[in-house]
Amino acid sequence: DGGMTSVEDQVRLGAAAGIVDRQIYTDPAILELEREQIFRRTWQYICMTRDLAAPGDYYTALIAGEPVIVVKGNDGELRAFYNACTHRGAVLTGDRRGNCGQILKCMYHAWAFNLQGSLVGVPYEEGYPDSFSRDEYGLVPVHCDTFLDLVFVALDPAVPSLEQYLGDMTEHLADYLDGIEPIGRNSWIYKGNWKLWHENFRDNYHPEWTHRVIHDTHPHYADSGGNWGVDHGHSVLQWTGPRPPQVQVYARSLARHSGVHIDVEDLKPRHQDDRPEGTPGEVLAVFPNLDIQPGPKQGGRGMRRGYIQTVTPLGIDRARVEITVYSSSDDTAEERRDALASLATSQGSWGTISCDDTEAAYRCQLGLLGQGTRSNLFTRGAAPGRGGSDAQSRDEYSQREFYRAYYDYLDGQVLQR
Ligand code: FES
Repeated sequence: DGGMTSVEDQVRLGAAAGIVDRQIYTDPAILELEREQIFRRTWQYICMTRDLAAPGDYYTALIAGEPVIVVKGNDGELRAFYNACTHRGAVLTGDRRGNCGQILKCMYHAWAFNLQGSLVGVPYEEGYPDSFSRDEYGLVPVHCDTFLDLVFVALDPAVPSLEQYLGDMTEHLADYLDGIEPIGRNSWIYKGNWKLWHENFRDNYHPEWTHRVIHDTHPHYADSGGNWGVDHGHSVLQWTGPRPPQVQVYARSLARHSGVHIDVEDLKPRHQDDRPEGTPGEVLAVFPNLDIQPGPKQGGRGMRRGYIQTVTPLGIDRARVEITVYSSSDDTAEERRDALASLATSQGSWGTISCDDTEAAYRCQLGLLGQGTRSNLFTRGAAPGRGGSDAQSRDEYSQREFYRAYYDYLDGQVLQR
């Protein structure tokens, strides 16, 4: 072909340089490919270890469209299974989490499985032919592993180990995620492709314009900081901008634009970016759909308080965001209340931050359907590679790292065990 690059190669090269074809947000065939090549082949965050503290505690998830359950055994082990009865397929529970006691019992014909997944109860078993064996009908296991206090599962048996998968991200995560426990959750569905949300969480170019609260309270907060790719599609975003927040400006704006009068003192402790002068705020993004926004570092050690967020595709133009706010196990009741108040105020389909991002995702999805421009631009910060200490907070090394990995997965060029 005279050295011409294929269309696929051009798409890959474009994505690595920060130019992404808009088809990936609108084409249902792409979503099928993503489910098969990305969601089945990556470690997916499920919950925290303290969500599964007692035997029989379980947590469920939908990964690549497949229901999965993680349950704690009497021996303290966490085990994951396909959440589907081996008799005729009913999910063993439709609840997101709970405690099943000693047995997962199917509601349909009451087959019962113990916490190790073995089939231990079959009503009127004598009616089956002699060839029937309970041993052949245990729950089908799925890979499950933990990193510090986070629980992950992976559907594809060929995924690398969780530690290998996280790679150098382990060092960034290790500062924050030991000795934490969930204290609150919220979840909502937005009209937009799942990638728009994950891109947004790595994007420090938009907040001053999208979020009135940031525009008013933290002008120029992203003038310093960093944004760089870590291996396998993971990334780190930092900002260290001016402190303290100008809450009076925001209060005046609210009064002027919407006639809402707020107590400035009430707003102060509830703002997410409540960090001491000079300490960085961070978003740690794990490929493909996990974002962690921890509390600031103090004396080199990360504060064990913040948000863990996943975004799950429900269709090509619909996705669910789930946020867990966590706290250090030794936080006081007052510190927990502040962390919860921060979640309630800023994150959620109603929050001062997330409602704006939900609107932005919706507007992007609408515009992406048009044929006017065929690509999206992530070219801020011109140097090749993953960016380093020189990368600015508003650069887009994070997004380019995501799309580098994204196309590797779509092509099947992924790490294998
Ligand atoms: Fe579960 Fe029949 S489908 S017992």
